[in-house]
Formats: sequence, structure tokens, C-alpha cells
Amino acid sequence: MPIIKTEHLNYEYSSGSVFHKTAISDINIEIEQGEFVALIGHTGSGKSTLIKHLNGLLKPTSGKVFIEGQDIWSDPKNLRKYRFMVGMVFQYPEYQLFEETVYKDIAYGPMNIGIPESEINERVMKSISFVGLDKTILSKSPFDLSGGEKRRAAIAGVVAMNPKVLILDEPTAGLDPLGRDRILREINEYHRNNNVSIILVSHNMEDVANYADKILVMNDTKIVLNGSVSDVYCHAKKLKEIGLSIPQIMEICLGLNERGIPIDPLTTSVEDAVHQIIDLFKLKEKDGQKC
Ligand SMILES: Nc1ncnc2c1ncn2[C@@H]1O[C@H](COP(=O)(O)OP(=O)(O)OP(=O)(O)O)[C@@H](O)[C@H]1O
Ligand SMILES: [Mg+2]
Repeated sequence: MPIIKTEHLNYEYSSGSVFHKTAISDINIEIEQGEFVALIGHTGSGKSTLIKHLNGLLKPTSGKVFIEGQDIWSDPKNLRKYRFMVGMVFQYPEYQLFEETVYKDIAYGPMNIGIPESEINERVMKSISFVGLDKTILSKSPFDLSGGEKRRAAIAGVVAMNPKVLILDEPTAGLDPLGRDRILREINEYHRNNNVSIILVSHNMEDVANYADKILVMNDTKIVLNGSVSDVYCHAKKLKEIGLSIPQIMEICLGLNERGIPIDPLTTSVEDAVHQIIDLFKLKEKDGQKC
């Protein structure tokens, strides 16, 4: 049974008023336990609106959301339980840090759900090490941390809740390339070591291609592609049409392939492309042709 499933999910902001705006239409998705799913789409395609439905932060205008097979809106008393099961790291989560110390900030969520004091310390230590921050940071004010550290402390606060599903809305937004790679690696590590499902929202296919089991592509309120990384890359032209970039090396290989050079158009690594090109040169040399 999928851990999260949606059926014909629609959402309209300011529904019933003259300002109504459809943000997601007819979304039917399934997320399995332990799956790493990337949700990709350009600005305004509906990504944040969709994920806010997955733990009941937004109520669908129509359609259903199921968590472990249960319709989450069938009894609103259960919504609290689902919000803990599905942890959400919002875009720019560092703005939600508010306690005097990093320790208190990370401990805030688990304390609120009644986790015993002894276990809280263990959870804080585990979460801080997962996000690669040194323990000495725990006694500091969150406002004295660097941008990247604040982001990681905020992620640690959600991880400390031990969610079954961790949703991260553009966790790398605004970070430099080193900070971005580090956070992506840490999320991947966390995914490999714990049986959690990850839903990672991004504008950038290249960011997620190395990690995701499945990619959902959104455009103009709808899911337009849904499959493995290679399934989705097969639609490179469509991705470009809707304004999503494909890896540069794939762009080159696609171009070469279109010009009749027998190279795999779905090549995603430079190393792989280099090997293919060297093999082609070797073949030509064997045939006695000059390159
Ligand atoms: N509170 C709101 N009231 C009215 N319209 C909204 C509201 N929030 C979002 N929208 C509109 O709903 C659509 C989907 O927005 P959403 O924020 O879900 O997109 P997104 O894919 O997350 O974009 P981004 O990549 O910029 O974060 C957009 O057209 C947006 O303008
Ligand atoms: Mg968004």
C-alpha cells in the first residue's frame, strides 16, 4: 500500500470569489514507503500547493488524499497525527527559527508531541549529526549561524520529529554550489540510512537526477510526466518546451545523436560521454578512417 496517495486532487485559491485561481488540477500520485521522489516544475506550476495537501495543511477543493490508506479528511481529529507523520521543510526554513538556542529549536517539535525528555536529547543529537553540524553549535543562538548552518538547523528540527515522510520544498534555494551539494548529499544519506520516503521539490532536474527513484514533473497545475529518471529524460524535448533544463552533457549528446553520431542521447555523465566518444574514435581507427 502506498504511504501517500492522491485521487483527482484539485485546489483553487480564493475559491468562489472573483479572484479564484486554480493551482493544482486532477493530481493522481502514489508515493511508496522508502521511495525518493523529486517534484520538479518551474515557478508557479503548483509544487508548493501540492505538497501542502500531503499532510493536511491545505484542504482540497475536491479530490482525496490518503495516508497509509486512510482518507485524511474523513475525520479532521486525526489531522494532527498526519502532520507528524509527514514532516515538512518549507522554502527558506531558516526564517522559522525562533528559540534562544539551536538545541531548543530542534527540541521544540518533539517536545510538543510529548516525547520524553531522555529521548529528546537523543533525537537532537541524531538530527544535528545528520545535517552535518558540530555539537558545539547547539548552545548558540540560531541567529548567530551562517546562512547554510541556519538552513541545516531548521532541517534538523523537522528530522527530530522522526517523520515517515520528509518533504523538502526547494531545500537548496539561495545556497552556493558547495552548500547545495552538501545538503543534497545529506538528504540522500538520511534516506539511505532510514526507511523514510523523501519528496524533494526542485526547479532543477540535475540536482535530483543522481538521487531520485521517481520524478514527478509539474507544469501549469498538472503532473505532466511521472516515472524513473531515465523515463523522464526520454522526454527531453518536452522538458525543454516547458522550461526545464536538462543536463548540459545530455544536451550535447542529444545534438550529436540528431546529427547521426551513434552516441546515447540520454547520457547524463561527462565521464560516460567521454568513454563513448573514445570508443567511437577507436572504431574509426580500426576501420582505417582518419578522425
Ligand atoms: N495564497 C495564494 N493566493 C492566490 N494564489 C496563489 C497563492 N499561493 C500560490 N498561488 C498561485 O497558485 C499557483 C501555484 O503556486 P505554487 O506556489 O504552488 O507554485 P510553485 O510551483 O510552488 O512555484 P515556486 O517554484 O515559485 O515556488 C501560482 O499561480 C501562484 O501564483
Ligand atoms: Mg513553491
